[in-house]
Amino acid sequence: MKSVQTFYDELSSQYTDLINKCVPRYGELMYNMFHYIPEGCKPKRILDLGCGTGNLTDQVLKHYPEAEIDALDISADILKESQKRFMSQPNVRYIQADFREMHLAPGSYDLILSTIAIHHIPDEDKIDLNRDIFQALKAGGLFIFADQTRGITNEIYEKHISRWKEEAFKLGSTQENWDMWMEHQDAHDYHTPVNWHLRQLEASGFKDVDVIWKNIMWAVVWAGKEAI
Ligand SMILES: C[S@@+](CC[C@H](N)C(=O)[O-])C[C@H]1O[C@@H](n2cnc3c(N)ncnc32)[C@H](O)[C@@H]1O
Repeated sequence: MKSVQTFYDELSSQYTDLINKCVPRYGELMYNMFHYIPEGCKPKRILDLGCGTGNLTDQVLKHYPEAEIDALDISADILKESQKRFMSQPNVRYIQADFREMHLAPGSYDLILSTIAIHHIPDEDKIDLNRDIFQALKAGGLFIFADQTRGITNEIYEKHISRWKEEAFKLGSTQENWDMWMEHQDAHDYHTPVNWHLRQLEASGFKDVDVIWKNIMWAVVWAGKEAI
C-alpha cells in the first residue's frame, strides 16, 4: 500500500484543484478558522500543520502579513508547490516533517493552525500531537484546527459520507475523483468523533475547548493554552 507521503507527493500538482472540488463549504470553513480569534490577538509566530499546497498559509498571510509562518508537511513535493506559490514571501519557512516527529521548541508559537490534515494519524498519535502542540504554544497561545470527523454512530457516519458525495459532485468532482478519495480514505484516514477531540484536548491541558463551526463531517475546533 502507498504511504500517505507518496499519495500526496503524486497528487501535489493537482491537489489545489481537486480539494476545491471535494470539500463542501471549504471557503466558509477557512473563514471560520480566523473569525473567532480574539480582536486583541496579534500572533507573531504561526505554525500551519499539514500545509499541503498552502490553502491555509495563504489565508494566514492575508490575516497576519507580518507574522513569521512555519508551513509543515510530510510530503516534499506538496511543500514544493507551496514554495512556488509563496515565492515572494520571505516570512514563510518550510519544514518537511511527520506530525509524530516534529521536535517543536517549547513556547515557540502564538498560534498553531491546521486544516484537514490531523485525521491522517491514528488516535493514539493524535493524543501525542495534542501534547506536543500544547507545549509548543506560548502562554495565551491558541490551537485551531479543521478536520474531517466521524459520526458518533455508524449510521450517522455513513450518512455523512453519502452527503459528502452529493456535495462533492455538485462542486465538480467526477466518479474517478471520488473513487480516488475513497481509496485514499480507506488507506490513510482515521476519522474521530468531535467529542473525542474535545475530551482529549481538555485532557492535554487545553482550556475553552469548543466546536466553533461544523458542516457534515468537517468541524473547526478551538482550544486555548489558557482560559480567556
Ligand atoms: C488534505 S491535505 C490538507 C492540506 C491543506 N491544509 C489544505 O487545507 O488544503 C492533508 C495534508 O497533510 C499532510 N500529512 C498527512 N500526514 C501527515 C503527517 N503524518 N505529518 C505531516 N503532514 C502530514 C499531507 O501530506 C497533506 O499535504
